Amino acid sequence: MTIDTAGQAAHAKGLARLRGFVTSFAELLSGTQDEAEVLQSGGKLLAALVAHDDWLPDDCAVHHPDRYQQYLLHCDSRERFSVVSFVWGPGQGTPIHDHRVWGLIGMLRGRERAERYHRAPDGTLRSDGTVGMLRPGEVEAVSPRVGDIHRVWNALPDTPSVSIHIYGANIGAVERATYDPDGTPKRFISGYANAHLPNIWDRSGRA
Ligand SMILES: [Fe+2]
Repeated sequence: MTIDTAGQAAHAKGLARLRGFVTSFAELLSGTQDEAEVLQSGGKLLAALVAHDDWLPDDCAVHHPDRYQQYLLHCDSRERFSVVSFVWGPGQGTPIHDHRVWGLIGMLRGRERAERYHRAPDGTLRSDGTVGMLRPGEVEAVSPRVGDIHRVWNALPDTPSVSIHIYGANIGAVERATYDPDGTPKRFISGYANAHLPNIWDRSGRA
């Protein structure tokens, strides 16, 4: 086997892992619409996916010098869920923002920190006072039900980090908000950094 052929085989194997995850997640959502169950069972599926760092296509792990990148890896045909790689350059992070749908965050590479916020009676946003740290293989959840407002940043000052996110919608097209610390919302539709998706459906190698 040449190096090139070995590289292609590894690429195909990685895409098969992503395809398996997508298929299992679609099956889960066909069986239940209960959010707690989706977060619990889907969290296990995501934990199994990010337990391995051998499958994410290189072009969906490229960091940008100025801003974090959000690459769409897959969107369900009924837009019941989307799978995204978040790539943080050194020191990069988000503003305070919400999601409006359930979400699962699984750490693949590096370290990520998140600070959660809640709305105080006076309308301002208050930090919950804790800053969580995600390490490779770990998963956490967000949603309007379990806490939906946070800010996230790369915990590593000199190395890119990558996390895999699953949302209960085509998240790049969801109208949501970023927030000033005083609680003032700004309309936010994230979009995606990529115009082309990984081809997880080419089974010709096996055929
Ligand atoms: Fe978020």
